[in-house]
Amino acid sequence: MYEQVSHALLNDILDELRPDLKRQDLRHFYTRLGANFYAIHSLFSHLYGRRDDFFEQMTALVDRLARAYIDRPTELERIDMAREEDHNWFLSQDIVGMALYCDGFAGTLEGLEAHLPYLSELGVNMVHILPILSCPEGASDGGYAVKDFRDLDERFGTLEDLRSLSESMRKRGMLLTLDVIVNHTSDEHVWAARAKAGYPDFQDFYYLFDSRDLPDIFEETMPEIFPETSPGSFTWDPTLGKWVMTVFNSYQWDLNYTNPRVLIEMVDIILFWANQGADIVRLDAVAFLWKKIGTICQNEREAHLILQLMKDCCQVTAPGVLFIAEAIVAPLEIIKYFGEDAVIAKECEIAYNATLMALLWDALATRDVRIMRHALQRRFAIPGGCAWVNYIRCHDDIGWVFTNEDIEAMGLDAKQHRRFLKQFYTGRFEGSFARGAPFQENPLTGDARISGTCASLAGLEKGLAENDQNEVDMAIRRILLLHGIIMLIGGIPLIYLGDELGMLNDYDYDKDPTKVGDSRWLHRSHFDWQGAEQRHDLNTVAGRIYKGLLRLVQLRQQNLAFTRAETEFTDTGNPHVFGFFRNHDQYSVLVLGNFSEKEQRLEARRLRHMGMRKTMVDLYAGRTITATQELVIEPYQLMVLTRAV
Ligand code: GLC
Ligand code: GLC
Repeated sequence: MYEQVSHALLNDILDELRPDLKRQDLRHFYTRLGANFYAIHSLFSHLYGRRDDFFEQMTALVDRLARAYIDRPTELERIDMAREEDHNWFLSQDIVGMALYCDGFAGTLEGLEAHLPYLSELGVNMVHILPILSCPEGASDGGYAVKDFRDLDERFGTLEDLRSLSESMRKRGMLLTLDVIVNHTSDEHVWAARAKAGYPDFQDFYYLFDSRDLPDIFEETMPEIFPETSPGSFTWDPTLGKWVMTVFNSYQWDLNYTNPRVLIEMVDIILFWANQGADIVRLDAVAFLWKKIGTICQNEREAHLILQLMKDCCQVTAPGVLFIAEAIVAPLEIIKYFGEDAVIAKECEIAYNATLMALLWDALATRDVRIMRHALQRRFAIPGGCAWVNYIRCHDDIGWVFTNEDIEAMGLDAKQHRRFLKQFYTGRFEGSFARGAPFQENPLTGDARISGTCASLAGLEKGLAENDQNEVDMAIRRILLLHGIIMLIGGIPLIYLGDELGMLNDYDYDKDPTKVGDSRWLHRSHFDWQGAEQRHDLNTVAGRIYKGLLRLVQLRQQNLAFTRAETEFTDTGNPHVFGFFRNHDQYSVLVLGNFSEKEQRLEARRLRHMGMRKTMVDLYAGRTITATQELVIEPYQLMVLTRAV
């Protein structure tokens, strides 16, 4: 019955639009619209069905989908069709990602295009360019406060430059990832300007309140995201004479998705960037899309419905484009962004594996892998047709997003343990190798997240400052161990530019008034081209890290055990040694990682119970090992052992 309603509605909408669209060849569009319309209609009516203008809004949405389809370059449509045929294309072991700032790396998009060979040389074939859209001068949350969603910041270049970059990338077999900041705009965006000028239609784009009554009720349950620099979740706007919901910085206005026009605009913006050549769209802060009084205003069911709707719309116009969910939330919540109960992804195909990221840093600090193993055994598996993006560092802080339950299961006190991690990574804990800084320390809760580069957090900064050769060696091993895990564990590894050379913290950021107080700038400095020059010199630290990482990338890309293979975590019998199998048909390997600075031993008998032979090949070191009684693993060593099957 309901499907009939949906068919009838689609006919009415097309009758409305056809006169306008009739000169176009829309065959593929109609097929895809037909296939996805039932879902689109159901979701749209669930969200907006009670409105008088429902039909008008639904028609406006389909109109935008059709127009974006007409604008889609032929070459991209060809790719859409190839990817529809092979919809698991992105699960290949070949994909290796890198996240970077265009200005810090290469100045402009043109510069970035010229420097693509640097990325290819390391085997990188997916590049996330951090935000390049038009932003206000001054503070803009590193580009995440956008002034114009359809224009680039002129510092980076023009849309023409971006198209040229995307073409060059395509020729090199590289995927382009761009951000769409779906949750908020800058207070200088034209919608905000019109709201300030008094247009009610645009005031409806945001959450505005005349008094503190509702903001006070909201704030009772909403956690603060930037408690140090932007406390609370609302900001008084003197021009409007109203309180505006601003969950992040005071100049980032939250969009109001109870208004269908917001959703329609955002779908259109996603499709706009898809048509500029983005293969992957990173949807920023998706957990925050729906606000409800009495809740933490994160991970609400409607936020998921909005994402499903965005995905279904994208399937109609640009089906080759993938979504990455940036939801740095509790493990059980992150997984839902792949689409709940979905055998095949219905929401985002890819999500940041914040759980693994936090667990890796946890294991490095404690030298104990039991929490990580326990948590991953429960939280790593995801639906078919989806992938984790596994990372160690990104442009943001490290939050301790694992669950208290997983810490308590190991007999630890969660609160104390979190405090220990904060102390450890800010270097306040006696004997810590890490040199990081707290981010948004909350005096009320005592919580803080952590900023700092991978190398500084892993001990390299301390080792170099103290001229301690052993500490430098250990730090290099730690960096490679962490990267080895993200390369091999299953999913898409995402390297943060500079980590391949061991770049250290940049303490100069707070001389810049637009950055002061935001310690994330410690790890967002200009790329170290001098270090890059040394990448082939094994007498340098940069060269040692680079070479190790290159080997790991090659190991991943050349071995079928890492393609679409399942991951099976195993108890190695030693609390310092992490282990997992990757099994794919006749290929199977055991990856072992020693998370301590002491040599560790595994009983050979135990290895044989796991199906290993006495003689094994370590693919990483490129040598044969015979373990008669025991297998000896050096400090922070990573081993990739072949298993006979
Ligand atoms: C995302 C970005 C982060 C930004 C926040 C608000 O989490 O990664 O850098 O501060 O969104 O836009
Ligand atoms: C919070 C948010 C995350 C954002 C980060 C920025 O952790 O959950 O989305 O990236 O803040 O610091």
